[in-house]
Amino acid sequence: MRVGCRSTKSRSVKSAYLLTSFLRRDQVLLGDMGAGKSSLVLRFVKGQFHEHQESTIGAAFLTQTLCAESRTIKFEIWDTAGQERYHSLAPMYYRGAAAAIIVYDIQSQSSFARAKSWVRELQKQGNAALVMVLAGNKSDMAENREVEREEAEAYASENGLFFMETSAKTAENVTELFHAIAVKLPKAPETPNQPGVVLTNQSRTPAKSQCCA
Ligand code: GTP
Ligand code: MG
Repeated sequence: MRVGCRSTKSRSVKSAYLLTSFLRRDQVLLGDMGAGKSSLVLRFVKGQFHEHQESTIGAAFLTQTLCAESRTIKFEIWDTAGQERYHSLAPMYYRGAAAAIIVYDIQSQSSFARAKSWVRELQKQGNAALVMVLAGNKSDMAENREVEREEAEAYASENGLFFMETSAKTAENVTELFHAIAVKLPKAPETPNQPGVVLTNQSRTPAKSQCCA
C-alpha cells in the first residue's frame, strides 16, 4: 500500500509542489493488558516486533508521520497501559484525542469484553468527534481464535466503529489501520494538545517520517 504524499510537477515549471497540508493529531490506544497495543505502535512507528514486549507502565508516547489524501498527518500516539491499576489515568489520554484504537486479542473473549467496555466508556465520556477504531490483534494466531471476525464486525457496525483484524507480528493491516484513521479524521485545523500528566519512558523525539516527498 502506498503511504506517501504525492508531489506533482507543473508542465511549464520544473519545480515540484507538494499538495499537502500538515495536521497534528493525538491518538490513543486502549485495551486489555497483553492485547498488543505497544506491539502495534512499535510495528507502525519503528517497523519492529518483540516476542517479549514489556508490559507498559503508565503510558508511552510515540510519534509517526503519515501521508493520506494529500495531507501530512503527524500522529502523536499515547500507548496506554492495560493493567487495571492504570485505568483511572486513561481519561487524561483519550480526552484530547482525535482518534482511539481499541485493541483486543482475537484469542481471548475476555479481552473482547474489555474492548467493549472501553467503547462504552468512550461513548459516555469521550469526545463526540472521536474517530473510534476496533482492532482485533494477533490475527496470525487464528488457530486459537475465540472471537470470530463476524462477531466483531457486527459489534463494530452496531456501534459505528471502523474495524480491522491486525497482526503486529506479521505487520498485517497495521499501516492500513493507521492509514484508515488518517482518512477518517476531519479535515479541520488541528486540535490543541490537551494538558495532562506525562508518564512516559520513551523519547518524544519524532520518529523518522514514512512520508515520501
Ligand atoms: P500492556 O502494555 O500490558 O497493556 O500490553 P499491550 O497491549 O501493550 O501488549 P504488548 O504489545 O505488550 O503484547 C503482549 C504480548 O503479545 C507480547 O508478548 C507480544 O509479543 C505479543 N503480541 C503482540 N502483538 C502480537 C501479534 O500480532 N501476534 C502475536 N502472535 N503476538 C503478539
Ligand atoms: Mg503495552
